[in-house]
Amino acid sequence: MKILVTGGCGFIGSNFIRHMFKVHGDAVSIVNLDKLTYAGRPENLSGVDAPPRYRFVHGDICDPDAVREAMRDADTVVNFAAETHVDRSILGPDSFLRTDIMGVFVLLEEALKRNVSRFIQISTDEVYGECLKGSFDEEATLNPRSPYAASKTGGDRLACSYFHTYGAPVIITRASNNYGPYQYPEKLIPLFVTNAIEDKPLPVYGDGLQVRDWLYVEDHCRAIDLLLQCGVPGEVYNVGGGNEQVNLDITRRILRLLGKPETLIQHVKDRPAHDRRYSVDFAKIRALGYAPAADFDALLAATVHWYRDHAEWWGPIKSGEFQTYYKTQYGKRL
Ligand code: NAD
Ligand code: DAU
Repeated sequence: MKILVTGGCGFIGSNFIRHMFKVHGDAVSIVNLDKLTYAGRPENLSGVDAPPRYRFVHGDICDPDAVREAMRDADTVVNFAAETHVDRSILGPDSFLRTDIMGVFVLLEEALKRNVSRFIQISTDEVYGECLKGSFDEEATLNPRSPYAASKTGGDRLACSYFHTYGAPVIITRASNNYGPYQYPEKLIPLFVTNAIEDKPLPVYGDGLQVRDWLYVEDHCRAIDLLLQCGVPGEVYNVGGGNEQVNLDITRRILRLLGKPETLIQHVKDRPAHDRRYSVDFAKIRALGYAPAADFDALLAATVHWYRDHAEWWGPIKSGEFQTYYKTQYGKRL
């Protein structure tokens, strides 16, 4: 496989590149096209092979020239590149519309010209909107409620249209909340772990009783790898962790794992349009052989300990651009 991975310097993309080299060795070569936004961290891939197995292209998925150059030898595309943080999409949706919709368009156009054999669009369970009871399967109505979710829905449906209209070999994944190493510390788990380590408040939105289904990032990578082998073009696959947790419970567990007091918890003004619960039915990918890891307690502990032991990774991130963002997002809340 000659894979173009986009957004490979981000959280899931970097874990995916490591996974593919670990599992497939010399049978894969990877080009990583990344714009290196605030979330793109080349250090996430430290130790990953130099050419010819691995090549980095610094560029924007919205730029047709960069995409042409990066896709020139690829037979497979996995598109992780996106603006990904819901709170930032509320503060400023522009870059979300650009990357998460127009970027997908540019990639699809080039993929058609190159006649690639697989195009995996990494979508999200947020396209369904909140799920107050039961679980959504792939046929459920889409009801995105944040600019992030709406932009991802645009990319998701555009990719699907390229399958129906032009026969592009598109497969769409809709995964739930990922956790694990190398996640930018704006997201719940790494933000709360690193704040707790620094004895700073943990800003819980609203009553903290929202529910997310936590998916270990390595499980997500295995699911994508499986779909590269046996996913059916034109199909959508939910990828869940089978592990629904209330935000406040996760927060308390993090504090316990770090030996920090619950007085660090601070309930703050809620996120607008905050989806109360996400839940996906992932029987379809289970039928292909996917199963998420069972031991959430052990994986959460391993994740918390990874951040505890890698302050050299998140320390510089939290002292840079992050400070401006943090003041804007939390200044009036805390
Ligand atoms: P991330 O924010 O950690 O990384 C995004 C990466 O994309 C960064 O390396 C960034 O530099 C790059 N990028 C952004 N805009 C780009 C552009 N215009 N051109 C090229 N590169 C660009 O994101 P993540 O959490 O790893 O998410 C990866 C994908 O998975 C996204 O598509 C996201 O919507 C989806 N997803 C994430 C989760 C989750 O819980 N993190 C769950 C489901 C789906
Ligand atoms: O469901 C998949 C999605 O999961 C992905 O598509 C997104 O890219 C990813 O960011 C994630 O979205 P969420 O909004 O669910 O993740 P986040 O980590 O921002 O928030 C998780 C929950 O924690 C949510 O209910 C909001 C809450 N939260 C988050 C932050 C950052 C807080 O209470 N306080 C906070 O400071």
